[in-house]
Amino acid sequence: MSVEAGRTPGQTHRTAYDEQTHARLAADAAQIIARYPQERSALLPMLHLVQSEDGYVSPRGIAFCAATLGISTAEVSAVATFYTQYKRHPNGEYTVGVCTNTLCAIMGGDAIWEHLSDELGIGHDETTDDGAITLERIECNAACDYAPVVMVNWEFFDNQTPESADELVGKLRAGEPVAPTRGADSVCSFKQMSRVLAGFPDGRADEGVGAGGPTVRGTVLARENGWEAPAFPGDEPAEEPVETKTASSSAAASGATATPKAGDEQSSAERPAATAADSSAAQQENKQASDEAKES
Ligand code: FES
Repeated sequence: MSVEAGRTPGQTHRTAYDEQTHARLAADAAQIIARYPQERSALLPMLHLVQSEDGYVSPRGIAFCAATLGISTAEVSAVATFYTQYKRHPNGEYTVGVCTNTLCAIMGGDAIWEHLSDELGIGHDETTDDGAITLERIECNAACDYAPVVMVNWEFFDNQTPESADELVGKLRAGEPVAPTRGADSVCSFKQMSRVLAGFPDGRADEGVGAGGPTVRGTVLARENGWEAPAFPGDEPAEEPVETKTASSSAAASGATATPKAGDEQSSAERPAATAADSSAAQQENKQASDEAKES
């Protein structure tokens, strides 16, 4: 059985935020709007902002977006109902998305979906009675090299099986920490994730490995064997003009850095420490604990 977490049967929607909440959201919305040349372009992140407050795109959230952006509630609803990342009823603490797109499906995604759906007693976009898990079938997450993949609040759990997914969901429901296979070292709540998607970083984007071994395998092989992509016919590099040669020679001489190539030293897979959080003692401890958990 599924419930709409945070709302009891017959309970009506609150139609507006209290004064304090409204002031806080208005300040956040002003920051979001300032990023765009036209106010209404801020609607997508503002819908995430509303979800970070209410756990879904609530009627009062729709009214807030419309009033703030000077558009109608119908226009806001039209956008909110188009994208599946915007929830039309209260979401659980964790969205568990099982990829059942072609590759993951045949590698075991369908079996994982059936198992979790049976164990939790819920179907697509439904939430467990305790409000912990919202289960979703999801489309390809560009992680086919780790199929079958399960996402928890958009963090990757690679190469899953029905048993490992069952254990993962059990830990989430028990409030135990879980460590994604790649990316951030832990999983935050649906509301916290929504705030990040609204454009307020939590400082965890550069945690962990961005691209793992299977993803960069082609690049590694190419490097080892000295392979390079052939030029397209008629696309051979032209003789470098004298003035360009001079400019690039000066840049090299001055130590200026060229734009890194994908898979090169500055790719996310090999990103050096760049922020204080990367190298703090606490961060290093967390990283070590996470790496050990991933290896075990
Ligand atoms: S098919 Fe599942 S990540 Fe691509």
